[in-house]
Amino acid sequence: MKRIFSGIQPTGNLHLGNYLGAVRNWVRLQTEYECLYCLVDQHAITLWQEPGELRAHTREVAAAMIAAGLDPQRNILMVQSHNPDHAELAWIFNCTARVGWLNRMTQFKEKAGKNRENASVGLYDYPVLMAADILVYKATHVPVGEDQKQHLELCRDIAQKFNQDYGRETFPLTEPLIFGAATRVMSLRDGTKKMSKSDESDYSRINMTDDADTIALKLRKAKTDPEPLPEHVGGLEGRPEAANLLGIWAALSDATLESAIARFAGRRFSEFKNELTDLAVASLSPITKEMQRLLADPAAIDAILRRGGERARELSAPVIAEVRETVGFLPR
Ligand code: AMP
Ligand code: TRP
Repeated sequence: MKRIFSGIQPTGNLHLGNYLGAVRNWVRLQTEYECLYCLVDQHAITLWQEPGELRAHTREVAAAMIAAGLDPQRNILMVQSHNPDHAELAWIFNCTARVGWLNRMTQFKEKAGKNRENASVGLYDYPVLMAADILVYKATHVPVGEDQKQHLELCRDIAQKFNQDYGRETFPLTEPLIFGAATRVMSLRDGTKKMSKSDESDYSRINMTDDADTIALKLRKAKTDPEPLPEHVGGLEGRPEAANLLGIWAALSDATLESAIARFAGRRFSEFKNELTDLAVASLSPITKEMQRLLADPAAIDAILRRGGERARELSAPVIAEVRETVGFLPR
């Protein structure tokens, strides 16, 4: 049996990268597998969050996911801190994971920046909690964007070492699921940088809450180069902005990059951007509208999340009991 788990940080509005790299794929998996999707508020506070904003963003991201088509009846949609089993397993995994493994994590280096001594311990330990999120449900597959690959390798290392140390096949070796034409959507201002919530320029990303005019403006201002669009894939070499915009077009229209290139070969960026704008608006505006409708009733969102948390605890309880017994903790 396949069990899917994935998480997203409720640290701000979702952007096109989150949608194409993650949420849209999650929606597609829900018809085939048993899925748990988690708003990872405990991961969010590894960097400072205003408490009021964290609360608001958690509801917003939940609404965005439901608006994008995620069915909270069919799946479990939950908040990480609603199930304390994640944090309990993370502590046990802290004693399995090695310092040397965490020292290799590139996301920590990026997020901590130059002032590493001043980063929170939580930021350093982030990937261990992530492994616990996944393994507390013995999830077998994790759909994510490219940027999470290294963390999933660490999750496998932890599972393997735990199984070996205790001589029992307790945890599965979880596989990443990285698919779609846009596993890494890049910034609209710099085609070599990932589109990210934390970029200080709002022009670098398309937010799920942007209206049609804002999307049009951001795409019009998006960085390009002076050449017409290439005739074949090889022509994208050294043209990260062209590659990114064509990749976005391909993902939004569910086509391959090759067919996007064939369609716009030799055309000017300005024409292409007009078509891309129409497509982006048509894809995103129904989601934005539905999101706004859902956010008008925060109590209903809270009820969905609370119910998700309860269902999640039913799934993790036997795993935590098994792990406690395995490591030698007395029954409680
Ligand atoms: P985060 O916003 O970092 O919590 O990421 C949530 C999900 O979105 C993860 O599965 C990421 O891999 C994915 N994601 C974030 N940024 C991008 C991007 N620029 N392109 C593709 N996927 C992304
Ligand atoms: N680290 C992930 C991100 O920033 C979010 C996350 C937390 C996650 N726990 C997870 C993703 C478990 C997949 C599985 O995108």
